[in-house]
Amino acid sequence: MISILRTIPEARAWVSEQRRQGLRSGWAPLRIGLVPTMGALHAGHVSLVERSVADCDRTVLSIFVNPTQFGPGEDYERYPRTWERDLELATAAGAHAVFTPATTEMYGAPQQMAQIAIDPGRLAEPLCGAFRPGHFRGVATVVAKLFNIVQADAAFFGQKDAQQVIIIQNMVRELNFSMEIVVCPIIREQDGLALSSRNAYLSAEDRATATVLSRALRQAEASVKSGIREVAQLERQLLDTIGAVPGARIDYARIVDRETLGDIATITKPALAAVAVRFGATRLIDNIILDPEQ
Ligand code: PAJ
Repeated sequence: MISILRTIPEARAWVSEQRRQGLRSGWAPLRIGLVPTMGALHAGHVSLVERSVADCDRTVLSIFVNPTQFGPGEDYERYPRTWERDLELATAAGAHAVFTPATTEMYGAPQQMAQIAIDPGRLAEPLCGAFRPGHFRGVATVVAKLFNIVQADAAFFGQKDAQQVIIIQNMVRELNFSMEIVVCPIIREQDGLALSSRNAYLSAEDRATATVLSRALRQAEASVKSGIREVAQLERQLLDTIGAVPGARIDYARIVDRETLGDIATITKPALAAVAVRFGATRLIDNIILDPEQ
């Protein structure tokens, strides 16, 4: 039976008990994996759980719609909450526990709201950070809290949120968390659309045209393969392809250094091509690594 953990003491006690069991029954310490999510689970999340189950002895899936990473006017209130189905998917994927705290459990009562936050620094300035001020500060803070609560050995994140992963890896490095970060590939629909909890918001029309994100990124990959290395030219191509689709409003379509997210003029080593596009009120992101050697 999957364990449902709703409070921080419950989560701590569960993890300690698992470690004690491991010590009693074997010579190797148990390895605990953590998969942080905001729920509304789909095959992308499931792939992270499956990877953790394969790599670790116990897997904790966290489901917490984190208010501090949503800006004013963003979709915090209407973010899909599908608890029953999430529990079924988590169980089927082999998770051992689900940690699903209330907002007050994580941040305290409104009158004594938490004061401390993690400043993710320069890595949070470009790309999504430029359009969602404070977003990555909220992400880094909640992820640090989850790391401290669960005390896992490894945490699993999707390449889908490329900037998020880079910021978390850097946080782990700079704040000396003893946690391994495992990055898992983007899971896509058959037509190429990257799975996202927010795809549920799309109208049938927008759902059909949203494939332009992955199409444009694959086109960039083909251009690099054909020998084009000029970033300005490749970015122009991305903008033209996505801009040609009715209803698509581009936040950004950029090719940047894969590690620093800084500007580059030509592709001389694997680079990150990342796009964010709005269809009505729904904002979708996608990315691909452009490797000049392939
Ligand atoms: P959420 O959007 O629920 O995503 C949880 C994890 O699933 C993230 O690591 C994300 O990159 C991964 N993921 C989402 N779609 C994916 C896909 N199509 N293929 C592979 N992985 C995918 O990201 C968050 O939640 C939050 O910011 C969180 C880290 C939980 C902090 O609140």
